[in-house]
Amino acid sequence: MNDTIAIIDYGSQYTQLIARRIRELNVYSIILPHDFQESYIDFNSIKGIILSGGPSSVYDKSSPNLNEKIFSYNIPILGVCYGLQLLIKNFNGNIKSGVLGEYGPSDIYMENDSKLFINVSHKSNAWMSHGDRIDKMPSDWLITSKSDNKIISSVENKEGTIYGVQFHPEVVHTEQGKQIIENFVVGICSAKQDWNSENFINNTIQHIRNTVKDSKVLCALSGGVDSTVVSTLMKKAIGDNAICVFIDHGLLRKNEAQEVVDMFNESLDLGINLYDRSKVFLDKLEEVTDPEEKRRIIGLLFIEEFQKITSNYGKIDFLAQGTLYPDIIESGGYGGSAKTIKSHHNVGGLPDKMDLKLIEPVKELFKDEVRQIGNDLDIPEQFIKRHPFPGPGLAIRIMGKITAERLDILRESDSIFMDILKQTGEYDKIWQAFCVLLPIRTVGVMGDNRTYDYVICLRMVTSLDGMTADWYNLPDDILKLCSSRIVNEVNGVNRVVLDITSKPPGTIEWE
Ligand code: XMP
Repeated sequence: MNDTIAIIDYGSQYTQLIARRIRELNVYSIILPHDFQESYIDFNSIKGIILSGGPSSVYDKSSPNLNEKIFSYNIPILGVCYGLQLLIKNFNGNIKSGVLGEYGPSDIYMENDSKLFINVSHKSNAWMSHGDRIDKMPSDWLITSKSDNKIISSVENKEGTIYGVQFHPEVVHTEQGKQIIENFVVGICSAKQDWNSENFINNTIQHIRNTVKDSKVLCALSGGVDSTVVSTLMKKAIGDNAICVFIDHGLLRKNEAQEVVDMFNESLDLGINLYDRSKVFLDKLEEVTDPEEKRRIIGLLFIEEFQKITSNYGKIDFLAQGTLYPDIIESGGYGGSAKTIKSHHNVGGLPDKMDLKLIEPVKELFKDEVRQIGNDLDIPEQFIKRHPFPGPGLAIRIMGKITAERLDILRESDSIFMDILKQTGEYDKIWQAFCVLLPIRTVGVMGDNRTYDYVICLRMVTSLDGMTADWYNLPDDILKLCSSRIVNEVNGVNRVVLDITSKPPGTIEWE
C-alpha cells in the first residue's frame, strides 16, 4: 500500500483539487466523506489527514462535525478553511460569523516560523473564501500568519502536529500553495513519494491477477481512453482470459464502429470482437423522448447484451469497467455511513441483479492520470487524445425522438465538424467537441427556394476532467467554415448555432 494522505470532505468545491495537488507530488491521496466508517480504511498507510473546506458554519446545528477519532491515530492534521474552524472549535477556541469575510486574493504575512511555511516568503498572496473567522485562539496554540485585513490566516498547536490555514493552498491563485502542501505532505507527514505510473501499472496488474485468478473477464470497449486503458491492463494481466468486445448500439458517429475496431486490432492487438446490436437498441428507443429514460434503457440493454455475449465464450465471471475516481466521489465516496457505494456505469446505471462481477482497475484515478497511464502503456496518441464520447452516444445529442433520419443528419454534420477541427489543428486544443441536433425546424432560403429544416448546434468545451468546463472560442473564420459546410453539404439542415454555456450552469452534453 502506498503512503496515503486522507482528505476528509466537508463539501468544499475545492476538495478534489486538494487530492490532485497531493498526487502531483507523487503521493497517493484519498477523499473520505466526513461521516466515513473506520472499517473501510487501512489507517496504517495513512500518513496525514487534511480536513477540507466546506460551505457550512461550525456552529450551525446541521453542520458536519469533527470525528474526534482522527486524533487517536497520532498523525499530522491540517485543517483548511472550514476544516481549520472545526479544529479551533474542538480545542475550545472561538469562531465568529461574518463581521468581515474575505473572498478572493489577500496578502498574508508570517508572524512565526512554521514547518508549514518553509521556503514560503514573509509576504505571500493567498486565495480566501470565508465569511467566518477565528475570534479566540485555543490556549497554547500559535498564530503563524495574518492577512492584510488582520484576520488570522494560519495557526498550529505547540507540538507542531496540528495545523490550520484559513486560505486555500490547493487553488492555483494561492501563490505558494504548492509549496505549503508539499511542506505538509512531505515535510511534516514524511509521506513517501512513490505514487507513480510504473508502480500503479505493476500493482494493478498484480491486483487483477489476484482478483480474477483463472476466470474470464469481459472487457467492453467504447473507443474512449478509459476503457482502452482498462482493456490493455487486463490483456497484460491475464492474456487471452480478457475478452474484448465492442458493441455497436447504432448510436455511434459516422463509420466509428469499424474504424475503432480496426485501430484497436492494428495498434493494440486486443483481438476485439465487434457486435452489431443497433437494431435491438434503436427499436427499444423508438418512441422515447425523456433523457433519463433513454439513459436507463441503453444502460439496461448494454448489460443484457453483455450477458448474452458471454455465453459465446464459456463461463465469464467479471465485467471490466473504466469507472474513474470522480464517479466514485460523486456517488458518495468510500465508506460513508449513510451511503452505500454505487458504481456508476459508463452508460448510466447498473441493474440490481447482475450475473457479472465488476472489476474497475482505474477507479482511483482522475482522467489526466488515466491518460498518463495510457502513455506509459504505449497506447498510441490517437486513442489518448480522442475526445470523450458518452456511453449513450448520439441518443443524448438528438433532443427528443431518435429516428434514422435524425441520426443520419447528426452523423453527417458531426463528421464535417470533426474534419474541420482536425484539419485546422483545433481538435487537440479542445477537450470535447460535437454537434447536437435540435428537433425543431426553422425557415431558411437556399437558392430561390424556401427551406424548413433542422437546427444543428456546435458544442466545444475546454476542461481538465469534465467536472467543470468552459466553452471554447473557435476562431470566426473556422466557425464560418463549419456553418457553411454543414448547411451546404447536409440535407435537412438549414441553420447552425453555437453553444456558449460553461459548466456549471450547463452540462457538457445536452441531455
Ligand atoms: P456532462 O454532460 O455531465 O458530461 O457535463 C461530463 C462528461 O461525461 C460524459 N458523459 C457520459 N459518459 N456515460 C459516459 O460514459 C454517460 O452516460 C455520460 N454522460 C455524460 C460527457 O460526454 C462529458 O465528457
